[in-house]
Amino acid sequence: MDKRYKRVSDSQTEQTYLMRHSYLNGYGNLFGGQLMSWIDEIASIVAMRHSEADITTAAIDNLNFKEGANVNDVIVLRGKITHVGTTSMEVRVDTYVENRHGMRKVINRAYVVMVAVDENHHPISVPGLLVETETEKVEWEGGVKRYQLRKKRRVEGF
Ligand SMILES: CC(C)(COP(=O)(O)OP(=O)(O)OC[C@H]1O[C@@H](n2cnc3c(N)ncnc32)[C@H](O)[C@@H]1OP(=O)(O)O)[C@@H](O)C(=O)NCCC(=O)NCCS
Repeated sequence: MDKRYKRVSDSQTEQTYLMRHSYLNGYGNLFGGQLMSWIDEIASIVAMRHSEADITTAAIDNLNFKEGANVNDVIVLRGKITHVGTTSMEVRVDTYVENRHGMRKVINRAYVVMVAVDENHHPISVPGLLVETETEKVEWEGGVKRYQLRKKRRVEGF
C-alpha cells in the first residue's frame, strides 16, 4: 500500500482554559502537574488526528517553564506535529497566557513523543508529514536532531 502523507494543519489543535483555584499550587500559581496533564492531553489529540489510530506517550522533553499564570488568566495550548518517524510522532505544545486584548505570552514549550499502537499495544506505522512552509522545515530539522538524540540517550540507558 502507498504511504500516506498529511499536513501539519490536518492535526493542529488549540485548547483554551480559564484559570480557576483548582488549577493553582500553594503559591497561587498554575500548578506544573496540571499543565503537564493538559500538555499530554493536547499532544495525544494531535497524534490521534495525525495517525488516525490509538496512541501512547513515549516521552516528554524540553519542558521549559518560562512564566507563571494566575487565577482568571486565559490559558491557551497549541499543539502541532513537528516530526514523524516510522511509528512515532513528535508534537510541539506551546502554552500561552492571553491578556484581555488577545495578546499572548509564551509560558511553556514542550516536545512530546507519541507512538501509534494497534489493539495489542504494538507500534504501527504513521502517515508521513508534508513539510510545506519554512517554519515547518526548520521544525522538522530540529525534530530530526531530537529524534537522534533520544535514540542515543536510550542506547546509553536513560
Ligand atoms: C512507547 C512504546 C509503545 C514503544 O514500544 P517499543 O517496544 O519500545 O517499540 P520500538 O522500540 O519499536 O519503538 C517504537 C517507536 O517509539 C520510539 N520510542 C520508544 N521509546 C521512546 C522514548 N523513550 N523516547 C522517544 N521515542 C521512543 C522509537 O524511536 C520508535 O519510533 P520510530 O518507529 O518512529 O522509529 C512502549 O515503550 C510503551 O508502551 N511504553 C509505555 C507507554 C505508556 O504507558 N505511556 C503512558 C505513560 S503515563
